[in-house]
Amino acid sequence: MSTSVRPRVLITRAVFPEHLERLREGFEVESNQEDLSFDAAQLAQRLADKDGALVTGGDRINADLLRGAPHLKVVSSISVGFNHIDLHACSAAGVMATNTPDVLTETTADLGWALMMAAARQVTQAERWLREGRWQRWALDQWLGFDVHHACLGIIGMGRIGQAIARRARGFSMSILYHNRSRLDAAIEAELGARYVDKKTLLEQADHVVLVLPYAPENHHMIGAAELALMKPSACLTNIARGGLIDESALCAALQSGRLGAAGLDVYEGEPHVAPELLELPNVALTPHIGSATRATRAAMAHLAIDNLCAALKGEIPPCLLNPDVRGRAA
Ligand code: DGY
Repeated sequence: MSTSVRPRVLITRAVFPEHLERLREGFEVESNQEDLSFDAAQLAQRLADKDGALVTGGDRINADLLRGAPHLKVVSSISVGFNHIDLHACSAAGVMATNTPDVLTETTADLGWALMMAAARQVTQAERWLREGRWQRWALDQWLGFDVHHACLGIIGMGRIGQAIARRARGFSMSILYHNRSRLDAAIEAELGARYVDKKTLLEQADHVVLVLPYAPENHHMIGAAELALMKPSACLTNIARGGLIDESALCAALQSGRLGAAGLDVYEGEPHVAPELLELPNVALTPHIGSATRATRAAMAHLAIDNLCAALKGEIPPCLLNPDVRGRAA
């Protein structure tokens, strides 16, 4: 391929050096190793002459943006979630959209567990208290949390990550309920030891509820005041999916009043802004959207995103194409 015809690619956020090197082998690359945040106008301006884009969950890809990017053939996201990409608009514009499933499943399930346990056992709050030099003596009633072992785990969203969370629960002798758009095969249910129930039953019976489902406008605030009222006052709610699934003000009210035991949150409605009420609550463990954040997994995600990008720019079908109904633009 001669230099003059090499496809032009935008990388919207900083990537590891090996990824930049790999992309530079095949493409004219506009990188962002300073990791500046582009607003919609800046993104549009940078995409105007590009053939491909390597994006992340913070980049909104919609019809307006695509109208100003006439050469764009692929938007490859370094994320499993794709609620930031308007797939319908991509298909209509002839732009392939791709994501990075599978490679982050186990790492994200680990974080789900870490957060669930941190919330139940007040790990982050107790550590903060200790670091502040407030630990004077041991006391019988100090930092009392909720048991995880032998408790009932309720998983909402039983895809790859939900199932990986369920597999870990067996080591803690937990009983497992799940709710999902579609029921799993009986053989998988038996292997996981998980029982399918409706959402109301799950919320009423589970001691630990974990949200692991993709966000879509239909499930916006699927956990609000009414759902929280169904839960046990000792229950813990963990969200590693998307902030918009939970009505955060209702959650804060439930945690403040003791209506809910504890919460573990990795994602937020307006992230990176976190509601001040949440920051002040003692019974919530908070992490900054780090579900897939290990060096190995983030590297694997970026490599898979580059595989997707390269395939699309070669005129092939990328391994993780999200919109197979796309009308391809001439390669
Ligand atoms: C994902 O992969 O979807 C993570 O939430 C990062 O955006």
